[in-house]
Amino acid sequence: MNRFTADRLLLFGATGDLAGRMLLPSLCALDAEELLDPALEIVCTARSEFSDQEFRNLARESLEHFLPADRRGGMATFLNRLTYQPLDASTPEGFDDLAQKVGTPERGLAIFLSTAPSLFEPTIRGLKHSGLAGDRTRIGLEKPLGTDLASSCVINDAVAGAFPERRIFRIDHYLGKETVQNLLALRFANVMFEPLWNSTHIEHVQITVAETVGLEGRVGFYDDAGALRDMVQNHMLQLLALVAMEPPVSYEAMAVRDEKVKVLRSLRAVNAAETVTGQYRAGAIGGQAVPGYDEELGKPSDTETFVAIKAHIDNWRWNGVPFYLRTGKRLPERTTEIIVHFRPVPHSIFSGRGARAEPNKLVIGIQPEENISLSLMAKVPGLDRDGIRLRPVPLDIAMDDAFAGPQRRSAYERLLLDLIEGDQTLFVRRDEVEAQWAWVDAIRAAWEEQGLAPKAYTAGSWGPSASIALAERDGVTWHE
Ligand code: BG6
Repeated sequence: MNRFTADRLLLFGATGDLAGRMLLPSLCALDAEELLDPALEIVCTARSEFSDQEFRNLARESLEHFLPADRRGGMATFLNRLTYQPLDASTPEGFDDLAQKVGTPERGLAIFLSTAPSLFEPTIRGLKHSGLAGDRTRIGLEKPLGTDLASSCVINDAVAGAFPERRIFRIDHYLGKETVQNLLALRFANVMFEPLWNSTHIEHVQITVAETVGLEGRVGFYDDAGALRDMVQNHMLQLLALVAMEPPVSYEAMAVRDEKVKVLRSLRAVNAAETVTGQYRAGAIGGQAVPGYDEELGKPSDTETFVAIKAHIDNWRWNGVPFYLRTGKRLPERTTEIIVHFRPVPHSIFSGRGARAEPNKLVIGIQPEENISLSLMAKVPGLDRDGIRLRPVPLDIAMDDAFAGPQRRSAYERLLLDLIEGDQTLFVRRDEVEAQWAWVDAIRAAWEEQGLAPKAYTAGSWGPSASIALAERDGVTWHE
């Protein structure tokens, strides 16, 4: 019963930033390629008063702004699917009218909640009382799901009071990214990596999520969150879990999530000395001057816009293998990548001839470039009269070249379609979210106990120098 294809989609937060930038454009792009069920009606709701037509005009503006012209083919048809119902979700009153607008779907209803966390509970209550939370309804929840373990449990309990876990779809949009899914193909559809994927052969792993953007106008939200809650608690820990998990028995929701949660529960509590936090000051990115965080915010703040962490996974496979994580705003470039550093060869037969074999390195580029590059040692051509020279050469796969045909899709295209069709594989289960919060809460507690304040870094740099020192102490250099 869980796998019905919904013929109604109810979008909360429909006038918000995410809806305008991502959700409506993604749905429209799917529609243009006839990937939405012809019967699907999309009911949009938010607090502002708009008629259906006024909302469609607003949606058209977003589509024209955020969707490339060549993907807007079905825009008129798409806009016709949209209707709008104003609702103050903080009070129960409007929910009956909303239910009336949604009507009675033939197959089922998919709800997407992209609202302020404070509206989660009243919204769930309203849905329940108005009959919108029936057993043919599934619900997608956009982050942030709380600000710590306790508040996330309150939200999860409220949702669980109206929906069983199999109909709750917690979104982490990184799981919708093609290259993130490709990690699983790389690990589990090839024979050569898995035998080496452990502490015997891997020395350390780095995960970097670097952004050039700053606050982007999200003043209230970001200052209460900071980089640890905004990026590490969710996206980075999901990446870590995919890199570190045991082979799942199948590519199904239960199997994949069972393996991820085991990793998340094996994360060792980090002490403050294994973390670095930073906050950007005015600087320049790509030749453009940018203001400091406190200037963008309009007041001084102790919120971290950069964090680096040396993490450990206490299990058999990863014993003694550090995972270096770092993320920050206003860094020199937008890059998300995972680097797997292998150990050196156990004995170099070339050392007597003056050559040094560097350890192999696997670089998995997630964005902006989707590529996989394996550095292999090769002999520099020559007669070797002065000794042998070895040099790393990359075995490079650019996904765009390897798969020039298929359309590249945004994470939300994938996730919205999975929500409508009921596939939970790329959504986060409650126990995962809770394990993530438990780990992150302990880090925050350690910072508070030690009264740690973020160190200044210049916008356009790779964060505070202490982040470089964090890795260099172990003889590790961040991949840049
Ligand atoms: C969001 C964060 O979850 O992810 C933002 O709240 C961040 O602060 C964004 O900018 C990054 O997503 P992406 O897909 O651009 O890497």
